[in-house]
Amino acid sequence: MKPILSCHVVAMPYPGRGHINPMMDLCKLVAGKSSSILVTFVLTEEWLGLIGSSAKPDNIRFATIPNVIPSEHVRGSDPNGFAMAVLSKMEEPFERLLNELQLSPTLIIADAVVPWAADVASRRNIPLAVLWPMSASVFSVFYHFDLLVQHGHFPVNLSVNGNDIVDCIPGLSPIRGLDLPTVMRLEENYQRFLKAPLQAIHKAQYLLLASVYELEAEVIDALKAKASCSIYTICPTTTHFKVKDSNGDLNYLKWLNLQPPNSVLFVSLGSYLSISGSQMDEIAAGLCKSGTSFLWAARGETLRLKEICGEKGLVVPWCDQLSVLCHPSIGGFLSHCGWNSTKEAILAGVPILTFPIMMDQVMNAKMIVEDWQIGWRVKREFDKDNLAKRDEIAELVQKFMNLESGERKQLTKKARETQQACEREFAEGGAFQIYLDGFTRSILQYHHH
Ligand SMILES: *[C@@H]1O[C@H](CO)[C@@H](O)[C@H](O)[C@H]1NC(C)=O
Ligand SMILES: *[C@@H]1O[C@H](CO)[C@@H](O)[C@H](O)[C@H]1NC(C)=O
Repeated sequence: MKPILSCHVVAMPYPGRGHINPMMDLCKLVAGKSSSILVTFVLTEEWLGLIGSSAKPDNIRFATIPNVIPSEHVRGSDPNGFAMAVLSKMEEPFERLLNELQLSPTLIIADAVVPWAADVASRRNIPLAVLWPMSASVFSVFYHFDLLVQHGHFPVNLSVNGNDIVDCIPGLSPIRGLDLPTVMRLEENYQRFLKAPLQAIHKAQYLLLASVYELEAEVIDALKAKASCSIYTICPTTTHFKVKDSNGDLNYLKWLNLQPPNSVLFVSLGSYLSISGSQMDEIAAGLCKSGTSFLWAARGETLRLKEICGEKGLVVPWCDQLSVLCHPSIGGFLSHCGWNSTKEAILAGVPILTFPIMMDQVMNAKMIVEDWQIGWRVKREFDKDNLAKRDEIAELVQKFMNLESGERKQLTKKARETQQACEREFAEGGAFQIYLDGFTRSILQYHHH
């Protein structure tokens, strides 16, 4: 017997990797809860080409809209232009797509950075859930933008108010202006990037935070007390949390198997917003000098780094990051502190050396170092005019990977405690299940009659 489709979710992610994946993971979780939920997952043609053939449940279907920029422009080459095109050119094809759907939508789930989806939803009287793919703390900073302005924290100017302590955001521990998301540094960014998402949130019935409640409980509670929509913390990662150990034939895992426990530093500085080649060279030289073994996932830079790195390090173009982080030989993670990497390191219980590059990474690093105390800073953020030098990197890495030192023992302990707190959240009957069930039950109310 065919299940009765009572709930039709249209999911509209921002067309970028850091956004498509969490949206897809979320949709899989929701679709997995009930066969009477159908998800139409909207992709640009470019993205359909990239992920169209990957496995997904039967009750998730892809639908496409045209690319927002001509395909000869590579996405990475002009991130700002791409973001502007997403803001201005996608609404119309999205509406056209909705008009053509046979089964009318009962819910739209939209990424917070495709704010026009909120206008579409409200024009058509369709309930809206907004997915926030970064930390709840970053959300809260944006959400309380008016408070930042009132207290003179916006825009952040490094030589004027960068060192001022921001303590006006409910539930958020004190933070320096310079540790806020870098988008806060330009006055015009309010109009360009912040205003519309903020308005969208106010139109939403649901806010879905891709976080772990345990990590940001006070911020999330404060948001719940204030926001008019229902807030659910659904870190989509759990679907992948069970690491498959069938990958033992991969070279890097074979190599890791040969290393002593906790002896290897894993290095990954993000896939797409890379730092300069000369900073890469300093890091590579510093790692060699430290004498520590390391595994470096360095898309695009592999050959050059291999030459600098010699015997002690293994450089690979790609790896299954969570499997690597969970490997017993890994003792630390040098990271750009993207939200995904931050969560994976926490779930794996691995201490972090922070080297943020831009955006929310700067604030994630602050939380890692100051709030959760599970990492140390290599550099507050990447600065092309003031590189982190090989000698300081070597010294820090040696200290960090010295498991016997008191300071490092403290880090290891904290990382373990934070990991355990997260594990409780994902256990049977934990907050994660409660949130997911609550959200699914709620959206099933909007069925077709
Ligand atoms: C920061 O403030 C200084 C001093 O007032 C000013 O010269 C500079 O232009 C400001 N920087 C930005 C990015 O606004
Ligand atoms: C990180 O992203 C990958 C996809 O790129 C996803 O499978 C995984 O669940 C994410 N991890 C976390 C902790 O969100």
